[in-house]
Order: sequence, then C-alpha cells, then structure tokens
Amino acid sequence: MKKSVFITGNSSGLGYGLTEEYLSRGFEVYGLSRRGCTGIDNQALHDVRCDLSQSSTIVPSLDSLLGAVSRLNLVFLNAGVLGEIRDIADTALEDILPVMDINVWANKIILDWLRARELGIEQIVLISSGAAVNSHKGWGAYSLSKATLNMLNQLYAPEYPDTHLCALAPGLIDTAMQDHLCNPNEVDVDQYPSVQKLRNARGTDSMPTPRTAARRLAHVMPRIKDYPSGSFVDIRTLDTAS
Ligand SMILES: NC(=O)c1ccc[n+]([C@@H]2O[C@H](COP(=O)([O-])OP(=O)(O)OC[C@H]3O[C@@H](n4cnc5c(N)ncnc54)[C@H](OP(=O)(O)O)[C@@H]3O)[C@@H](O)[C@H]2O)c1
Repeated sequence: MKKSVFITGNSSGLGYGLTEEYLSRGFEVYGLSRRGCTGIDNQALHDVRCDLSQSSTIVPSLDSLLGAVSRLNLVFLNAGVLGEIRDIADTALEDILPVMDINVWANKIILDWLRARELGIEQIVLISSGAAVNSHKGWGAYSLSKATLNMLNQLYAPEYPDTHLCALAPGLIDTAMQDHLCNPNEVDVDQYPSVQKLRNARGTDSMPTPRTAARRLAHVMPRIKDYPSGSFVDIRTLDTAS
C-alpha cells in the first residue's frame, strides 16, 4: 500500500519543500493552505484551500481532503505565521490572537479531528521553532505561540498512545518568513539584534532552501522516534548527514 502524508501550509516554504520531497519518495501527499499548492503536476498530490484563521472552516476542509483516506503515515502541522516583530509591551492582544489562532488553535482542531478518525498515524510533527525556548526581543507573539505549541505537543502525546508526536524546530530555512526578517526596511536590526544572525546566515549552508531543509527533515524522521513521544527536538542538535 502506498504511504501517505498530510502537510499543512504546503503552498510555499518548508511545506512546499516537504510536498516535493514526499512526492519524490512515492507518497500520496495531502496538503492544506489558503493559496493551494500550485506548480506541481502529480496525480499523487491532493490539496484543499482553507484559511486556518477561520476555525469553523477547518473540519469541513479536513472532511473534504481526508474523508476518504483510511490510513496516514505522517503528518506535518507546518502552517505558521510570524506576526509583527515588536516589543511585547507594544504588541496589542489583537495582534497576538491571530498568530495563536493559526500557529496553535488550528492545530488543536486538526489533532482532535485526526485522533477521532483513527487513521493509524505513525508520526505527527508539529513544526516549532527555536523561538519556542529562546526569548529574543521582538519575537513576542511568535515565541508565545511556539512555546504553547510545544506544550500542546506534550499534552497530546499520551492521548495518542499509538502515534509518535514531536515538536520540531526545523532550523533556519530560506523562505518568505526570512524575506521579512532579513529586509532592513521592515525589521530594524539595531532595535532587534537577533535578526543579524539570520541576515548573516542567508545564502549560506546555515539557511538552506526549503527543498534541502525538507530532505534533511524527511531523512531524520525515523531517528526522531528515538525520542520519547511529546519531545521538543531542534534539528540542529541532530547529525543530519548520517
Ligand atoms: N523559515 C524559517 O527559518 C523557520 C524557522 C523555524 C520555524 N519555521 C516554521 O516553519 C513553518 C513553515 O514556515 P515557512 O518558513 O515555510 O514560511 P512560509 O513560506 O511563509 O510558509 C507558511 C505556510 O503556512 C501557510 N499558512 C499561513 N497562514 C495560513 C492560514 N491562515 N491558513 C492556512 N495556511 C496558512 C501558508 O500558506 P498560505 O499563505 O497559502 O495560506 C504557507 O504555506 C512555520 O510553522 C514556521 O514557524 C520556519
């Protein structure tokens, strides 16, 4: 039987790279995003357009995309947004809530749906970030969302006894998120010095393309199972070459 993977946020960046990688590995790929996964002509790619900030649309979208699927091998809860880089005291609650809706609460709805369907999932990866555990100035909404995502992962792990869950920091990846962070007209490095590291990394092996990052991630997936379910793993702590 063909293997299958479900990837949220597969219209660009890491999710698009994972889509290409798993198609090349012969998987059926099920994706979800607002823009849709365009530019790939492959019968094994199925996707649905859904805005994860609109919570009431998530279940109908999952029904339509995965309703006829009886087994999923892998799930990547990858869709995410950065929010504004701004001091936390200057960040209004209204600006934090949409980041939480997409990066955290949409994933709760998806995890509940998947669990109820009993799809025999082997591994679920919640794409987290180093920002979940590092409190750099300016990363308020994003850090809060990824820290909460890590806890969501820990809380769900025992309620998914037959599935391995992991919150994974994928390392730096050259995506649209970095376009914003690395643009001096959009983020002031004097005010938010942590972005200098990203600007230095861009164009080097420390910030791979989405396809390269996806290949590394797919390569380490079996080894991630060596960690207890519910762990937070930073891919930079793994030897991705072996
Ligand atoms: N890039 C990095 O260096 C880096 C580092 C650490 C962690 N991450 C994490 O990696 C994941 C992927 O990010 P990326 O860097 O690949 O960024 P990206 O290129 O901006 O991709 C984000 C994806 O999320 C989807 N998405 C965003 N809002 C959505 C919504 N309301 N409804 C449905 N889908 C939505 C986007 O699709 P649509 O716009 O089509 O909806 C897109 O496919 C994120 O969770 C991010 O936090 C990235």
